[in-house]
Amino acid sequence: MRIAVAISGRGSNLEALLHELGPKAPARIVLVLSDRAAPGLTLAQARNIPAEVLPDSADGDAWLRLLRSYDVDLVVLAGYLKLVPHPVISAYRDRIINVHPALLPGFGGKGMYGRRVHEAVLASGARESGASVHLVDERYDQGPVLARLRVPVLPDDTPEQLSERVLRVEHQLLPAVVLAAARAGRPVVLNESQVTSHLSRTPTAADTGLAARDSRLPE
Ligand code: GRF
Repeated sequence: MRIAVAISGRGSNLEALLHELGPKAPARIVLVLSDRAAPGLTLAQARNIPAEVLPDSADGDAWLRLLRSYDVDLVVLAGYLKLVPHPVISAYRDRIINVHPALLPGFGGKGMYGRRVHEAVLASGARESGASVHLVDERYDQGPVLARLRVPVLPDDTPEQLSERVLRVEHQLLPAVVLAAARAGRPVVLNESQVTSHLSRTPTAADTGLAARDSRLPE
């Protein structure tokens, strides 16, 4: 399966994908797109993967020309912050996925990105957060959820601490969903144990923060 990854920032989720999608993987990143001169583009350039900055990220025709010229099967939004233009969503219906740093359907929607997500989770008093991967439709963060991985929220967490813990599971979840999609020929729904079965390495307690939960949270 030929994958395009869209980013807006440092690209740590792109890096996790590149790490997991080795030469024998059923999925290959053939294009990295950005709406700006994102630092993560250098990860693609270092591996000779075409990296394109869209001059106007709202120009659906420009998106489609690029996706078609690289024969892309699946678009992965990995920290991409802009809306994907409607013609792209229509042309790639059910073939665009996004990673979100909270347990959808909660804590998503317009304006819910970066630190604001984690602040909202902490303010809610929730004892768990996590990462979600969902299909992208015309609405922010509302397409069907494909898979989620949970992490604990600790009593004295700062937004930064929670964000780091969630990011570690984003790096597990997104490659697992992409690999499962490549094996099935389309994005599929996965439960937590199916997520880990798609990875080359089983996540440890250090990845998920669950060791911290055992010692610090009452049952
Ligand atoms: C991640 O938390 C992602 O879920 C969110 O933005 C962050 C991007 O991180 N949408 P990176 O660019 O992949 O490092």
